[in-house]
Amino acid sequence: MYVFKAAVVGAGTMGGEIAQVIASAGVPVVLKDVKDEFVQTGLDKACEVTEGQLSGLVGKEKITQEQADAQLEEITGRIAGTTEYEGFGDVDFVVEAVPERMEIKQAVFGELDEVTPGHAILASNTSSLSISEMADATGRPDKVVGFHFFYPASVMRLIEVIEGEETSEETLQATTNFAQAIRKTAVRCGEGPGFVVNRILNSAVSEVWKVTEEEGLDIKEVDKTIQESGTVPMGPFFLTDLLGLDTVLHVAEHLQDSYGDRFYVSSKMKELVDAGNLGQKTGKGFYEHG
Ligand SMILES: NC(=O)c1ccc[n+]([C@@H]2O[C@H](COP(=O)([O-])OP(=O)(O)OC[C@H]3O[C@@H](n4cnc5c(N)ncnc54)[C@H](O)[C@@H]3O)[C@@H](O)[C@H]2O)c1
Repeated sequence: MYVFKAAVVGAGTMGGEIAQVIASAGVPVVLKDVKDEFVQTGLDKACEVTEGQLSGLVGKEKITQEQADAQLEEITGRIAGTTEYEGFGDVDFVVEAVPERMEIKQAVFGELDEVTPGHAILASNTSSLSISEMADATGRPDKVVGFHFFYPASVMRLIEVIEGEETSEETLQATTNFAQAIRKTAVRCGEGPGFVVNRILNSAVSEVWKVTEEEGLDIKEVDKTIQESGTVPMGPFFLTDLLGLDTVLHVAEHLQDSYGDRFYVSSKMKELVDAGNLGQKTGKGFYEHG
């Protein structure tokens, strides 16, 4: 199946950039959130990312400023924002990017099942939850699949294509093709908690959280030391602020519930989430953000 039109549900940390990736590959996309201001944030993010990419190309003299201006208009013009399911009646592929809570995801999948055409593939950007449980909320479990981007979606090349219990081979193939069409590299994996990347990443990061708390280490010093090692672009606490503490906490708790105490849940992170400090998106997390 070829994807002529796509949709993204949830215009937060991930959704705006996912819509940008799809639009910059030439595919029209509808971006939905629950409030106008959230939709606008996603549209602004898509515009900002596109501007950054195009000015990079101008700087390298790959395209002219005039071409960049025209492309900016074309790419952003392919993204339509909505707070209703307007424009979902003729989509071929939907990426759900709402908060990492099964009850929210199931409600969205139930709605998507009603508003999209029967042939449409319904994909989730979940970081760790069960694709099969989301599929249970629809009458088309064979067309429900995981489509897991990494932060920041406009930069990171990898997408995990996750197979639920009833996902058909045809859906997996069409999803892998779509990943390639939007210039990403797809890896197929089963729906074990955390899939592949987050299971590996969290096993390392949870050691850092644990030692930092047990030894009473300074978070900024830990980040600085890890960054200076040159193995990663930034320390794990700063990264968590960018990803969103609520999202990272849900993933960490889910991994601990699934695999036991070898996955640690940072109590400082819990404290911050309870106080509503979710990182960059709320202005404060482990760090203060301007
Ligand atoms: N943040 C990351 O680094 C990251 C990376 C990969 C995958 N993910 C996954 O992507 C998903 C979204 O994460 P995020 O960080 O973008 O979350 P977020 O909290 O930044 O954004 C979620 C958005 O969904 C909207 N929303 C809530 N209910 C909705 C509904 N019924 N319909 C439409 N929109 C609704 C919210 O208003 C919000 O704007 C989660 O499943 C998360 O695990 C996140």
